[in-house]
Amino acid sequence: MTEKFPPILPDDPCLIHGGDYNPDQWQAYPDVLREDVRFMNLAKINSASVAIFAWAALEPEEGRYCFDWLDETFDRLWKAGVRIILATPSGARPAWMDEKYPEVLRVNADRTRNLHGLRHNHCYTSPVYRRKVREMNRLLAERYGKHPALMMWHISNEYGGECHCPLCQEAFRGWLRKKYGNDIEKLNHEWWTYFWSHRFTSFDQIESPSPLGENAIHGMNLDWKRFVTDQTLDFMENEIAPLREITPDIPVTTNFMGCYDGLNYWKMLEPLDRVSWDNYPFWGDPSRATWEVASHVAFTHDLYRTFKGGKPFLLMESVPSKTNWHPVCKLKRPGMHLLSSIQAVAHGSDSVQYFQFRKSRGASEKFHGAVVDHSGRDDTMEFRGVQAVGEMLEKLAGVAGTTVRADAAVLYDWENRWAIDDFQGAINGPDKERARGYNDACAAHYRALWKRGVAADVVCEDSDFAPYKLLIAPMLYSLRPGVAERLGAFVRAGGTLVLTHLTGYVNENDLCFLGGFPGDGLMELAGIRSEELDAVYPEDENCALFGENHLGLAGCYELGRLREIIHPAEGTEVLARYTDDFYAGQPVLTCHPAGKGRVYYLAAAAGQELLDDLYGELLPEAGVSPVLPVELPEGVSMTLREGGGERYYFFMNFTEQPQRLALPAGAAFTDLNTGETVSGELPLAVYAVRVLRAE
Ligand code: GLA
Ligand code: ZN
Repeated sequence: MTEKFPPILPDDPCLIHGGDYNPDQWQAYPDVLREDVRFMNLAKINSASVAIFAWAALEPEEGRYCFDWLDETFDRLWKAGVRIILATPSGARPAWMDEKYPEVLRVNADRTRNLHGLRHNHCYTSPVYRRKVREMNRLLAERYGKHPALMMWHISNEYGGECHCPLCQEAFRGWLRKKYGNDIEKLNHEWWTYFWSHRFTSFDQIESPSPLGENAIHGMNLDWKRFVTDQTLDFMENEIAPLREITPDIPVTTNFMGCYDGLNYWKMLEPLDRVSWDNYPFWGDPSRATWEVASHVAFTHDLYRTFKGGKPFLLMESVPSKTNWHPVCKLKRPGMHLLSSIQAVAHGSDSVQYFQFRKSRGASEKFHGAVVDHSGRDDTMEFRGVQAVGEMLEKLAGVAGTTVRADAAVLYDWENRWAIDDFQGAINGPDKERARGYNDACAAHYRALWKRGVAADVVCEDSDFAPYKLLIAPMLYSLRPGVAERLGAFVRAGGTLVLTHLTGYVNENDLCFLGGFPGDGLMELAGIRSEELDAVYPEDENCALFGENHLGLAGCYELGRLREIIHPAEGTEVLARYTDDFYAGQPVLTCHPAGKGRVYYLAAAAGQELLDDLYGELLPEAGVSPVLPVELPEGVSMTLREGGGERYYFFMNFTEQPQRLALPAGAAFTDLNTGETVSGELPLAVYAVRVLRAE
């Protein structure tokens, strides 16, 4: 039986509802502060994330601290039954600090140093900033560590970006010395600096990648990105140290940014008790179906659940209606706020939180959606939407601590993505990341599972593959040592592995494998040899035509713009072949048995139709079932959270039409919203979400 995870609030197993709250901005408005609490209670908000950018309010001048407002906030919210997620304020700095200690200001890749302003732009190496942050965090922990309202630490805010200052350069060189055992020739080999006479004779010659200097050594670019992650992690650990020391029982999180490119989040998980993320999808963008957006968001939720082995995450930020930064700041249509909020819960979040509780009166985010509007009214569409979420979360309290169990996983690896996005070749140009399509490929394979109500985890190269029956590893271009071997063990033990074009080209430092692709032993495992990669123009059509095959697939499917010419080994089944061009008739989809399992190789970028139909046959063969045997109409999603003997099914209609589906005969459920018993037909209104507990 799947166990429940401990609830976020040990004394109150509930789902968290709250958001970023900035009383520091409203000190001159006592009526507003009093009203805030009323609004929180009205909307069933049980938590507030406080002090995220409050450094100037906490320390108006160096060494002069001002905690009165925060003391009052703690007491006011505690009395109102609202818990506090207390932030460390390092996301933005007061002017006095930048003025007195310019080293805390970040230096850009073009070696210009920032002026004071904006946020998320400190140097993460600066000893001064690290000390300042430690001191501030210690004071916060000492003052509020025992307050009963304190529920969690929110470390900084959306760590990101990189600093190229002299301190960071020195740290980077130190990082490289360590990685290459102080052996510059080892570095020269891994970076292949023999090319263009780029060989270094000393670590002191190395500078971070820059538009003014070196940026074409891919191994170096990769190492720089790894360093940025490690240095950010080190900065975060420095922030956390005093909190752990003084408040060992208060859990720690930091808010990540979905699949943000700049940091390998997999590396940053260890010091965190919970992961959380900020989610701002483009609902209502007519260029994509609502359900396509939904499936992309679902992928990210599943990644966050997988990060901590199924432990519920937090949706730290979302918006009650519109942002102020989307290209078009469109309101969420009626129903969408509840649906998109509960979608997070459906995939393993134990919270729904917002940026922001109250719209600021001035400055850059005054028109960003919030729980409370400038009008100060409780009858706005936004406020009512938040209230509806609060009511539903209360009814779903039993879901807290349950998780999603998945037999399938999609492998999405940051370092692999960095390597694919950076190389020169295949498709170049300003939008090359999109055109090469690593993120989209992972999302498309995932979507084929999402459409069928099949649960999936999102793993990386270092994850344990053993719990899964099916592992989908699109475009696994860069292989860290041991990965190919572990994939082999997974397959031989009975797993089904799906590989695609662009697999096994380079090692972890972007050195090409010699002896053919896919390298490092994957050629034998996959039972194919890839001879060439053809990148084509959008007009160059080609299809995959199925011949006789053991999956019983038939017909012709459009292919994308990256196509490999592959040669099957003996014993490899060819399921489909190219229809056009000089490689017409050559294999595009193969299957190779190995041990108790099998490897599929899809040699070209595939359209969604091919993936949908392929997984329709491949899932049952791999022994992977949907969470319930239910036919889902297009755009309807189904997930299951379970634990402690309870099962909660989530049905979500991400379409602009009412839908209905047939529940399995004989199964009975309780609709948690209405309390009614449900069986047989399940109608779903436009944007409806229904949560059914299995009886
Ligand atoms: C991010 C930040 C918030 C706020 C929102 C606006 O997620 O963390 O401070 O700026 O964006 O959408
Ligand atoms: Zn720096």
